Amino acid sequence: MCGIVGYIGKENPISILIQGLKDLEYRGYDSAGIALKNKDNIQIIKSIGKITNLQEKCQNTNLISSNIGIAHTRWATHGAPSKINAHPHKVGKTTIVHNGIIENAALLKEQLVKEGIKFNSDTDTEVIAALINKYYKNDPIKAIEKATSELVGSYALAILFDDKEKLYAIRKDSPLIVGIKDNAFFVASDITAIINYTKNYVLLEENEIAEMTQNHISYYYQDKEITKKVLTADIKSEAKDKNGYEHYMLKEIMEEPLILENTLKPYLKNLDLLPNLKDYEEIHIVACGSAMYAGMVGKTLLEERAQVKVFCECASEYRYKNVIYDCKTLVILISQSGETADTIAAMRNAHSKNIDTLAIVNVKTSTIAREAKMHLFIEAGPEIAVATTKAYILQVALMALLAFKIAYDKKIIKDTKILADLQKAPCLIKEILENRKLYLKIAKEIYQSTNIFFIGRKVDYAIALEGSLKLKEVSYIHSEAYQAGELKHGTISLIDEKVPVFAIITDKQIEEKTLSNVEEVKSRGAKVIVITNNKNITNYPDIIYVPKINEFFQSLLVVPTLQLIAYETAKLRGCDIDKPKNLAKSVTVE
Ligand code: F6R
Repeated sequence: MCGIVGYIGKENPISILIQGLKDLEYRGYDSAGIALKNKDNIQIIKSIGKITNLQEKCQNTNLISSNIGIAHTRWATHGAPSKINAHPHKVGKTTIVHNGIIENAALLKEQLVKEGIKFNSDTDTEVIAALINKYYKNDPIKAIEKATSELVGSYALAILFDDKEKLYAIRKDSPLIVGIKDNAFFVASDITAIINYTKNYVLLEENEIAEMTQNHISYYYQDKEITKKVLTADIKSEAKDKNGYEHYMLKEIMEEPLILENTLKPYLKNLDLLPNLKDYEEIHIVACGSAMYAGMVGKTLLEERAQVKVFCECASEYRYKNVIYDCKTLVILISQSGETADTIAAMRNAHSKNIDTLAIVNVKTSTIAREAKMHLFIEAGPEIAVATTKAYILQVALMALLAFKIAYDKKIIKDTKILADLQKAPCLIKEILENRKLYLKIAKEIYQSTNIFFIGRKVDYAIALEGSLKLKEVSYIHSEAYQAGELKHGTISLIDEKVPVFAIITDKQIEEKTLSNVEEVKSRGAKVIVITNNKNITNYPDIIYVPKINEFFQSLLVVPTLQLIAYETAKLRGCDIDKPKNLAKSVTVE
C-alpha cells in the first residue's frame, strides 16, 4: 500500500525513480510524485493517476540537475486522491514520502496548528513532515527520532532536508529496504523496484534509521550508531517482467504449474521437511481476503481428513476478539506479502499470549516471515498483479499438504500413495490452463451480467468464495458466494434468468445435495455453469470438467478455471486487470 523509492548516488535519479515507481505501482495508483534535490533546490512534481502521467509531466518540465531524489505512488488513506494530497510533502526544510497510516495525526495536527504551522493537504504525511521539521535543528537523526516517537501508527519514510546532501530512511510496521551499490544507495518498499540496479540490500528493523551520502551509509537506533548485515536477494530481475503476456494476472496464472512443482518437490521427497503439527489440539487459521479463503480450504481438509479442531477467521476480526486459548493451540498465518497489517497484529497478539505461530508466506523478507515462530515459504516469486492467483493456489497446496501430513502422522491415513495425485497436479493444471477457449466462451456468456452467484458446499464453498472474489475484484461485476444449501433462506429471491450461478461440485459425499440446490436455482431461471470432476453430471449446457484426483488436492484443479474465467470476463469488460480500481496489493493499513 503506497510505494516508496529513493536514490542517492552519481546518476541523475529521474529515470531510476520513475522505473522504480512503475515497479511499485501495484501498491497504489491514485497519484504519484517525485522530489529531486541539489545543493540549492528541491523540486517537487506531482500528478493524479498512474505513473505514466507523472512521467509525462516530468518530461515536460525543466528538471533541476540532481543526484538525490525520493518518489511515491499513493493509495489514499487520509485525504482524497488529489494533487495536493499526493506525496512528497514539504514543510520548512523537510521533504518526505510516507507509506502507512498515522492514527494520532488529527491530534498532532491540532497542536501544530496552534503552534502556527499551516497545512496544505488533508494527509497524515504532512503532519509527519511538520513534526520532523519542528524538531530539526541541524541534527536529522535527533529530529527523526523525536518526531517518530510521537507517532502512533505505521510508517515507512524517505526523508530529505534542504541543507543536507543526504537521504534518510526509517520504518515501523511498513516495509522499507535499503539497496546498496558502489557509490549509490536506494530505498524501496520492495526489492523489485531496485533489482535492476542491485541485489544487495539491508532490512531496516523497527525505528532503525539509515543515513546515506553518495558513498557512505550509517545506521542508527536510539541515537547510537549500529551495524547492519547486507543481504542478497535471490530473485531474478526478469521475474518482474510480463514475459510477453498481455497482463501480469495471466502471466502469473500460467506460472502455476511450474511454481507448484518447484515448491512441492522437496516436501514430496521428504514430508519431514514440513513442521510437525500433530500434537496441536486446536488450530486457528488467520488471514485476509484470498489468503483467508485458502485457509478455509485448509480448515475443511484439517477437520474432515485430519480430525483437527480448526477456527478460520479474517485477521481484522480475530485481532480484536477475546480469543480463548485453553488448549495447545497453533495459529497459522497465511499471507502473500507478509505485510498485511491485520495479519501482523493477529500474529503479535498470539505471540503476546505465548501461542505458537506458523506463517505460510511468499515474501521472505517480510515482517510475518521474520517474526512468526515457524514458516513455510510458498516460493511463488514476485506477484505483481493486484489480484492474487499463483500465491493463492500455493497457499491452498501447502494447506492441503499440511492437512495430509497431520492425518498421516496421526495414522488416520496409513500410507503416502495418494501423494502421487499431488505430484501430478502441476501437469493436470497445465492441461486445464490450455482450455482457454472454454473459459472465454463462459466469460462471453456472463460479462454483461450485473449479479453472479457462486455456490458450493464444504470445500467447494471455500473455493466458491475465492471464485467470487476474483471475479468481482477484476471485472467489477457484483458477485456473491453462498453455501449451496443456504440460498433458499433468503437470497434465492435474487435469482432470475439474468443471474448466472456457478456451481462447484467436487465432493462426492454431498454431490446430490448440491445438485438439488442447482435445480432450485435453475427452475427460477438462473443460467447455471457447473464445475465438476464427475463426468456423469451431464444435463447442463455449460459444464467444465476437471480431472478427478484425491479429495485432499481436488480444489487445486478448480482454482485455475475460476481464475481464468475472472480474467477473461474482466478483459471483455475492458477493465484495468492488473490494477483494479480502489485496490492495492500489500494492505499495510488497518
Ligand atoms: C485478492 C487479494 C487479497 C489478498 C489479501 C491478503 O485477490 O489479493 O484479498 O489475498 O489482501 O493479502 P496477503 O496475502 O498479502 O496478506
